[in-house]
Amino acid sequence: MARNVGFLLLSFLSFFIGLSVADWNILDHKEKHKLGISLKNYCESWRINVELNNIRGFDVVPEECVDFIGKYMTSTQYNIDSERAIEECSVYLSSCFTMNGDGKDAWIFDIDDTLLSTVPYYKKHRFGGEQLNLSSLEEWMKEKKGTALEHSRNLFKEIKGRGLKIFLISSRGEHLRDATVDNLVKVGYYGWTGLILRGSEDSCKTVQQYKAEQRKRLIENGYRIWGIVGDQWSSLQGLPTVKRTFKLPNSLYYVV
Ligand SMILES: *[C@@H]1O[C@H](CO)[C@@H](O)[C@H](O)[C@H]1NC(C)=O
Repeated sequence: MARNVGFLLLSFLSFFIGLSVADWNILDHKEKHKLGISLKNYCESWRINVELNNIRGFDVVPEECVDFIGKYMTSTQYNIDSERAIEECSVYLSSCFTMNGDGKDAWIFDIDDTLLSTVPYYKKHRFGGEQLNLSSLEEWMKEKKGTALEHSRNLFKEIKGRGLKIFLISSRGEHLRDATVDNLVKVGYYGWTGLILRGSEDSCKTVQQYKAEQRKRLIENGYRIWGIVGDQWSSLQGLPTVKRTFKLPNSLYYVV
């Protein structure tokens, strides 16, 4: 009997604890509504957390944020955000770079969405809201329609002018070499020292692993890498590290 009462009491208690947890969630939800969390707030928060590398490896832009991301990636704000990142490269070079004179001072750039914009492609593919179709993206790359990111092009010229050697390390495959060179030159990039693309031996590696290996090779060849500009964390992370890295905004896709 006593045991039964205890059991009943316990059931009652857990029932109320259950209720209060549910209540708390409801209140929390209402609180959020009162604060006016809108879809725009939600999507901006998604975007910033992608940039902070808290949200990793997403396949597609969340359906409800496709419009928001599309607007951002074609906005003045995106342009200003990119310009600011590039300005910081200039500030860093002005204050920290000293030329060694042995021809081994170097800088690394990504290509897609760092030097060349793929936004014109993604405009036709729901701004990352649909699963990547690599053959369709590569067909577009072969058409050499990538536009220059203006601020990046200015930095490219500045870096060349300072006497650094420029290496382009891209996750594009070797088979796209001719199209890539043509596209780069057409929109005003020339005078790089190396254009490194993915060979068949790299096909099973992650992009981060492949790019880190290419940096290692450059460093073994005596290059001092002063900085990397890229729009993907996989271009900046991994060993060996370099003196400074600069991340350009990109919430269209995530390369691992
Ligand atoms: C991917 O793109 C290619 C080339 O445009 C097209 O032929 C193919 O149907 C697409 N695949 C899918 C799954 O949409």
